[in-house]
Amino acid sequence: MIGNPVDYNKKYNNTSSIRGKAKLDISLKTYLKLLSGKNVLDLGIGEGQNSIPLSELGYHVTGVDYSTKALDICRNNSSNIKLIHDDIRNFIIEKDKYDLILSAGVLHFLHKDDVNHIIKEIKSNLKPNGLVYISVFSEKDPGLNKKENNIDFDRLDHNIFHNRLENTYISYFSRNEILKQFSDFTTILVSDEYSLDFFHGNPHYHGIIKYIGKKEKF
Ligand SMILES: C[S@@+](CC[C@H](N)C(=O)[O-])C[C@H]1O[C@@H](n2cnc3c(N)ncnc32)[C@H](O)[C@@H]1O
Repeated sequence: MIGNPVDYNKKYNNTSSIRGKAKLDISLKTYLKLLSGKNVLDLGIGEGQNSIPLSELGYHVTGVDYSTKALDICRNNSSNIKLIHDDIRNFIIEKDKYDLILSAGVLHFLHKDDVNHIIKEIKSNLKPNGLVYISVFSEKDPGLNKKENNIDFDRLDHNIFHNRLENTYISYFSRNEILKQFSDFTTILVSDEYSLDFFHGNPHYHGIIKYIGKKEKF
């Protein structure tokens, strides 16, 4: 593991919720019909933005997060989700248990070597015919250029930045990078979009890559 996990607890100092009411991502909702089972793993579940609605739809959700405060919020809003406090870089995914593994807005908070490891874990342990859903910051994210001029960050290769004060990493991805990671999956959806983030601070744009893929039965 490279560096520290990002400390999301700090973000809850002045607020009781960052995300507000949970709402299932529309792309994910569209493709739920492809799932043949009900077991879901959410890596970096946060407050349960996707997983609370999934649980309400009857899915059996396990969520992992490093932030105890995010987990408390999730727990207060849903009693049906199994919550695990762990660093997702350590978490061992049970083989052939999950029909859907998702990680929304999380993997960009890691060094890409750690991301590669997690994606390998997901790919080898997801059930055959299962789906993966991932969203990450893209190289078009305006935050990338801002990091170039920020003295707290060192730029490494492949659009990875090191935060010297926190010893954390932030990574930006291209669409092709994500497609290459999942070249042995069938692509269901890939999008490279801008979306307005009005959940914290002043409203600002993010460049986001979303990927949904299916692990074929070989
Ligand atoms: C932007 S929030 C996204 C939360 C949720 N997936 C959503 O879509 O609303 C990022 C979450 O990732 C968690 N996180 C970041 N790095 C982590 C790590 N290494 N291990 C576990 N959780 C992590 C944070 O604690 C935070 O709750």
